[in-house]
Amino acid sequence: MTHIQHNPFLSRAGQFFWRYAGAVSVRVKVLGIVLGVIILLGIFIIVQMRAVLTSVLLWDLGQQGIAITRNIVLETDTIMQDGTIDDLGELFSERREHFSSPSHNTQVDYIALTGPDGAVLLAEGLYDPAETLISIAQPEGSSHELFVSSDETVTEVREGTAYGTLHVGLSQLLVHQTVDQASFNIFSVTIVMVAVGFAAAFLLTWVLTRPLTDLVAAASAVERGDLERTVPRWADDEIGELATAFNAMTASLKRADEERGERERLREQYISGIIDAQENERQRIARELHDSTSQSLTSLLVGLQNLHGTRSPDELPARIETLRGIVAHTLDEVRQLSWQLRPSILDDLGLKSALAHHIESAQAQYGLPVDLVIQGLDDRLPAALETTVYRIVQESLTNVVRYAKATAVSVFVGVRGETIRVIVEDNGVGFDPAAVQREKKSLGLQGIRERAGLFGGTLTIESSPGAGATLVIEIPYPTEQAVS
Ligand SMILES: Nc1ncnc2c1ncn2[C@@H]1O[C@H](COP(=O)(O)OP(=O)(O)OP(=O)(O)O)[C@@H](O)[C@H]1O
Ligand SMILES: [Mg+2]
Repeated sequence: MTHIQHNPFLSRAGQFFWRYAGAVSVRVKVLGIVLGVIILLGIFIIVQMRAVLTSVLLWDLGQQGIAITRNIVLETDTIMQDGTIDDLGELFSERREHFSSPSHNTQVDYIALTGPDGAVLLAEGLYDPAETLISIAQPEGSSHELFVSSDETVTEVREGTAYGTLHVGLSQLLVHQTVDQASFNIFSVTIVMVAVGFAAAFLLTWVLTRPLTDLVAAASAVERGDLERTVPRWADDEIGELATAFNAMTASLKRADEERGERERLREQYISGIIDAQENERQRIARELHDSTSQSLTSLLVGLQNLHGTRSPDELPARIETLRGIVAHTLDEVRQLSWQLRPSILDDLGLKSALAHHIESAQAQYGLPVDLVIQGLDDRLPAALETTVYRIVQESLTNVVRYAKATAVSVFVGVRGETIRVIVEDNGVGFDPAAVQREKKSLGLQGIRERAGLFGGTLTIESSPGAGATLVIEIPYPTEQAVS
């Protein structure tokens, strides 16, 4: 193949050939190859056979000619001992007839006797002394010579006798007729073979291309989005395997498509949930600001106005103390609100301190003993990752407080190798994770999964009713990313 690429002419010729041969259907290709091979074979056999058969038959004709000539020479000797030239004429005529009869299967064109000077002494048949003859090579020691006429129609045998040279001409007509007949027979067989080959190739390509046509139709249907489409397995061969592989591919495409659709739906649900939750959160903050903070600030304002009207300076310290109390209370509320929105400790002191602080306040608030273990978190993680881990722990603990009725909780956060692992385990009532997943109403666990997923991580829930719950979150974290 490489030498074709090296030869620019061949390469161009090959491309030219393939532009046309490659464009036709498989059926035409197979038919072309089969018919081409049969016809070439037929032509080759006919040419070869003609050459071989002609040379064999001509050689045979020559040998027959020699035998006939020998016979006539002997007879001539006998007659010429006491006969006349007329007797010899009779002999030639009789011999010619005899050897040309159908039982001999030769055709003697002429028998002639010429003198030493070349003059014709006696001729029987179509002898033409002016005819140009070409000598044929003879085995050494042979007493006769062989010639062929320039138009290749006559083989002549010559033998010298005491009375002159004897010429016996044999027609090659029978030889050529035999060769033509044989050629015609082979040609007929070739035609029959072409017909049989055509039928066989047609059947073969039908068997081959029918399932391929099905596959092409199915593939374009799949391309248009029809993932229900399958193709029948016609036979247990390579094409059958292709059909099976195609069906398997379509099935897995369909599965992937369904999974993608499901993921998409969940994501949409999650996003709209998040938006709702954000809206609720804003509502809560607005209400809080309105009901509590602005009430306090209003009292403060009224208190300050009232200060103007105070006549007795003795009342002042008590009033100022009341106002200070209001300010301190308001400050507390604002701090708490801001902490709920985002714990500043996470940005200032990092994940480790933020987790410790959160768990401490959860313990104080709900009286739930939480065992916190942190491993390998001495360096800061990227801010987004720290927030993710913090929110995951926060949501897990909220769930435990809300549903688990647990008496003990343990929280583990560790970086080992290239993975950050968060494990939150409680000994509470447990739940059926599959059922929760099916209901798809709540956002907490799905939020954990989504948050971890943003970093290529996963959530595994191990729980069953009555057996506590364990959440394992694993997030890949290549160590070279570590922020020191
Ligand atoms: N630690 C746990 N122990 C027992 N049940 C739990 C626990 N964690 C979750 N569940 C169950 O799984 C359900 C789904 O929890 P998830 O956090 O996803 O949603 P939610 O807490 O109900 O709502 P949201 O978190 O959106 O406010 C909960 O309703 C609860 O029944
Ligand atoms: Mg929850």
